[in-house]
Amino acid sequence: MSILITGGAGYIGSHTTVELLNAGFDVVLVDDFSNSSPAVLERLEKITGKKFPFYQGSILDTEFLDKVFTKEDIELVIHFAAFKAVGESVQKPLKYYKNNISGTITLLEKMKEYDVKNIVFSSSATVYGTNNPSPMTEDMPTSAINPYGYTKLMMEQILTDVAASDPSWSVTNLRYFNPIGAHESGLIGELPNGIPNNLMPYITQVAIGKLPELNVFGDDYPTPDGTGVRDYIHVLDLASGHLAAVKYNLSHKGAEIFNLGTGHGYSVLDLVKTFEAENKVTIPYRIQGRRAGDIATCYASPEKAKEVLGWEAKKTLKDMVRDSWRWQTTNPNGYED
Ligand code: NAD
Ligand code: WQD
Repeated sequence: MSILITGGAGYIGSHTTVELLNAGFDVVLVDDFSNSSPAVLERLEKITGKKFPFYQGSILDTEFLDKVFTKEDIELVIHFAAFKAVGESVQKPLKYYKNNISGTITLLEKMKEYDVKNIVFSSSATVYGTNNPSPMTEDMPTSAINPYGYTKLMMEQILTDVAASDPSWSVTNLRYFNPIGAHESGLIGELPNGIPNNLMPYITQVAIGKLPELNVFGDDYPTPDGTGVRDYIHVLDLASGHLAAVKYNLSHKGAEIFNLGTGHGYSVLDLVKTFEAENKVTIPYRIQGRRAGDIATCYASPEKAKEVLGWEAKKTLKDMVRDSWRWQTTNPNGYED
């Protein structure tokens, strides 16, 4: 029996693949490379010393999914495949609703048809919206302010409704906080498309000289230094959270939600200073106005994941900035190198 990983060539999917292969699971990867590179596949083999089946295609394509579910003996799906750029989702909402929501529905229909009723889903802290205090707990009210956020909210709802309609389903919704870092080998990491929107890939591109300076979006928030506070989590901790979630999912039925975060908040300037000190580089930055849609502070309560999954994040902010920088310096042009 294998675990099907949709979006397995992507940033979080590739690190989770390493974790599952190292834990002895058989995996099958699916990706259409809309936001990733085929080069990741040989790097995954290099890191793990293992081979695995890969299928190139879209989860929107029913015939493609038929082929995968017919050829492979799947017991659980980890569903990463989606578009994730908040700004682009505002410009191109239909692109996001189609890929993220229609893609998930198509996948779920095929899972039902082939009697595969175990799914671990990539949700996001974005579903906590703008009004909840930190630490955020799974029972807080949810909301969205952009199409990307709505897709995550709707997919959580769809999955919860599917589990409620049929007690043989097991659904695990994982709400990631801010994943950064990369595998220690420097062989896999995040591949931002164009100019990065997220803080860490922006910092690494400033550090390597691709971008002139960092724009710090606001220094007048009610936080210790005035800049936004987030719960940065190492992508390898996130990967081990998926391993724990898979084990939980396979031994339970029904729908559950877990935060995957560290429980610690760091400001933009904390990240900049730690990056500079740890990697011996300078990050020129300029304070700008606030970015629309940003909140002052967002960090997780990781208690439920600790109690129920027996998982907690272990890596430090220093580990995160060091591993992000190693990935950037060894692959200045991503997987093209
Ligand atoms: P990513 O873009 O690196 O990975 C997604 C992968 O899915 C890519 O390889 C892409 O090519 C593939 N894909 C997209 N649409 C597809 C389709 N229709 N069929 C097949 N493959 C498809 O993103 P990531 O950072 O690894 O994120 C993975 C998941 O986690 C996404 O669902 C994202 O919304 C969610 N998430 C990410 C973050 C983050 O900050 N990175 C935070 C919270 C949640
Ligand atoms: C972090 C902090 C910015 C860039 C986003 C999505 C969320 C989730 C994770 C997918 C904030 C500041 C940023 C820059 C800056 N993704 N910043 N200059 O906004 O917390 O979350 O990614 O689900 O849905 O919204 O992450 O990395 O963009 O920002 O000052 O150039 O860095 O204002 O305080 P965010 P981020």
